[in-house]
Formats: sequence, C-alpha cells, structure tokens
Amino acid sequence: VVDVRKLYANTGMFTYDPGFTSTASCDSGLTYIDGDAGILLHRGYPIDQLAEQSSFMEVSYLLLNGELPSKTELEDFTRTITLHTMVHEQLTTFYRGFRRDAHPMAIMCGVVGALSAFYHDSTDISDPEQRKIASHRLIAKMPTIAAMAYKYSAGQPFVYPRNDLSYTANFLRMTFSVPAEEYEPDPVVVDAMDKIFILHADHEQNASTSTVRLAGSSGANPFACIAAGIACLWGPAHGGANEAALNMLREIGTVDRIPEYIARAKNKDDPFRLMGFGHRVYKNYDPRATVMQKTAKDVLAKLGVSDPIFDVAKELEQIALNDPYFIEKKLYPNVDFYSGVILSAIGFPTEMFTVLFALARTVGWVAQWNEMISDPAQKIGRPRQLYTGPAERDYVPVSQR
Ligand code: ACO
Repeated sequence: VVDVRKLYANTGMFTYDPGFTSTASCDSGLTYIDGDAGILLHRGYPIDQLAEQSSFMEVSYLLLNGELPSKTELEDFTRTITLHTMVHEQLTTFYRGFRRDAHPMAIMCGVVGALSAFYHDSTDISDPEQRKIASHRLIAKMPTIAAMAYKYSAGQPFVYPRNDLSYTANFLRMTFSVPAEEYEPDPVVVDAMDKIFILHADHEQNASTSTVRLAGSSGANPFACIAAGIACLWGPAHGGANEAALNMLREIGTVDRIPEYIARAKNKDDPFRLMGFGHRVYKNYDPRATVMQKTAKDVLAKLGVSDPIFDVAKELEQIALNDPYFIEKKLYPNVDFYSGVILSAIGFPTEMFTVLFALARTVGWVAQWNEMISDPAQKIGRPRQLYTGPAERDYVPVSQR
C-alpha cells in the first residue's frame, strides 16, 4: 500500500474533506444559512418573510439582481418571463421518444439539456446580454417543460402556456387542464404552490448547485449546466427526498406503526433513514419546514382533504423531536418532510415532486451560474484527490503475468 504522506510530500498544503463538509468552493452574495440557529436569508431577507409576503417572481428577481424590484421592474421582469414560456414545437418530439412510464426526472434531464440545440445564441456565455436571455429562457420554460413531462406520462395532450396567468397559475393550468375541462386553480392552491417555489428557490452550495457551478466552470453552456443540476437533484439524499418522504409516510400508514420505523432509523444495521429528516447544514429546525407545515395545514383545510398521512407526519415529528437519538444527532424535519403532503393534496403524483423542486431551484442555479461567470477570478473547478492505489511499479507484459 502506498505511503500517502510520502506521495504528496511535494504538493504543498493539501486538505482532505470528503463531502466538502468544511470547504467553501466559492464566495457568493445570494444566500446565507446559519444551520445552528435555523436561519436562511436570500440577499439578506429572511425566508419566512419572503414566503409569507413576496411572490416567486419577486424572489427570482431578487436572486438574479441582488435587490427587490420596484413595481415597474417587477412588471417588466414578469412580462419578460411570460413572453419566454413557449418551447419550440419540435421539442415535443423529444417527449415522444421516451417510454410512457419514464420517470419525469429522466425526461427533464434530457429535454432541458436539449434546449442548447435550440438556442445557439444563448450558448455564447461571454456575452452578459446572452447570459441574461438564457437565464430568462430557463426560468420561463421550466414550468412548460415540467407540465409537458407530466402530460406525457398521463397520456394527455400537451397544454400550451397562457400569457394572462401568473407564473404559478399558468403552470398549474398546463399541468391539470384537459381538453374537456379547463383547470381553474383555487387561489389558496396557487398561493401554496408559489410558496413552495420560493422555499426551494436557492440554498447555497448544495450538491446540485455545486454541480451546476462545476459544470459551468468549464465554460459549458447554461442549458447543459442546468441539466447536470437536474441529474444531481434526482438522488434520494437530495431532491428525491420529497418523493421518498411521502412514500415512507404512506408505508408507515398509521400512527401506531411509527415506533417501528423510529426503531429502524436508529438501528445501525438497518440502512433505513427517516426521509425528510436531517440536513448537512441545519442542525436545528429547517426554517423552510416551519412554513411548509403551516402551508400543508392551510391547503388541506381549504381543499377539504383529510389525509391521514399528515397526522402520521405530525406525530412522527413529535416523537422524533423528543427521542434522544434524534436530539443528540440534531436531526430535525427538513423542507421535504411536509412538501409531499401538500403536493399530493394538490393532485401531483409522487414522481412529479422532484420535478417541481427542479423547476423552483432553476432560478437559484441560474443566479449562481451567472454570479460565477461574472466573477473575473473564476477558475475551472478541479478538486484534487488522495491517491490510495498501488505505489509505482513496472509494467509486466501479458505473456509474463
Ligand atoms: N434518519 C436516521 N438517522 C440519520 C438521518 C435520518 N434521516 N440522517 C442522518 N442520520 C444519522 C446518520 O446515520 C449519522 O449517524 P452516525 O453519526 O451514528 O453515523 C448521523 O445522523 C449524521 O448523518 P450523516 O449522513 O453523516 O449526515 P450528512 O450531513 O452527511 O447527511 C442528509 C445529511 C443526507 C440530508 C441525511 O440527514 C439524510 O440522509 N437524510 C434523509 C434524506 C433527506 O431527507 N434528504 C433531504 C435533504 S434536504 C434537501 O436536499 C432539500
């Protein structure tokens, strides 16, 4: 076995930090998290204030431009996004190449990556104006692409965007309207969906955002970078956790079965984890989960849905918060714990949950990518590794092996 210390003797300072738990890969003015205190700020504004008082369009503007917009700036920005919601008609043929039962995240990875084949002008990342247009295109087209992924899996015709609706109402309509019946979203549902989008808009250097930055650091075009982010987000330890959390709550089913699952989560020989619990940065209640729990209550009440899963979630949270294992490891509900309950009540199938996360996170990815490209000190991302293979040795011809 190689002597690692000798091997890297001439390398200078070398840090080994698997999972980057204590290494900042960049500086950024977008998002601040104090994980111990459970604080999340976007450009200085607390997430609960933004979720309660702002809109997803306004937060998108804030993340992209650094300041809250004036009334006219918000109207202009919203109009620009609205005008970019259509996708090229030829893009529909991409969907038809997928199996009907394809996971919509598989479709998202492919279709979003394919956008670079349609917008050659936006692939010139040296031009700030083109970067801005690419950002608007991505934010605007994501709801259309996501709704089309859903429609394709449901075997229903695609619904085209309607420019008189808000970003979020338009997305809900494209998802749930069928030729025989125009979907009229309840304002409470639009408001809840908008909140969910705000809560997922950005979260500093999480795995998918770091992926977008790393892909972008090589000069790759923005559509390819966002497709890379979508692929990373899909994993159950990241964006896939909302789907996994709801599946887990359904599997638990009733309050009396919770102790069995708590015991499994604590058992080191069992790979099972409480999905929607724990966070790399938050060692306190995720402030997004607080808003999410309240929103779940409002939506279920408004829609008259009595979902036993919500009772299971609340009880599970209470039991875990009082359990020494979870207290000691500082494991609290994260943003994904309650989001599935709301999305399910609105009518989304679980396979769409991570797609909705990707839709909302696109603005964060795009803002982070822009920030990185605009930085004159930007370099290609190139982490080192600690080599642990065999020491140097001579090649042996195959006849002598
Ligand atoms: N259930 C049970 N035990 C857990 C859980 C959980 N959900 N999460 C962490 N632990 C335990 C681990 O077993 C570990 O125990 P040990 O120290 O005895 O080995 C300890 O807590 C620390 O866990 P790590 O995995 O080292 O923490 P890390 O920061 O790497 O992981 C993560 C964070 C991936 C989010 C983890 O908590 C997890 O897997 N949670 C469930 C999946 C989830 O909800 N993901 C969504 C994250 S939020 C987002 O992406 C939007």
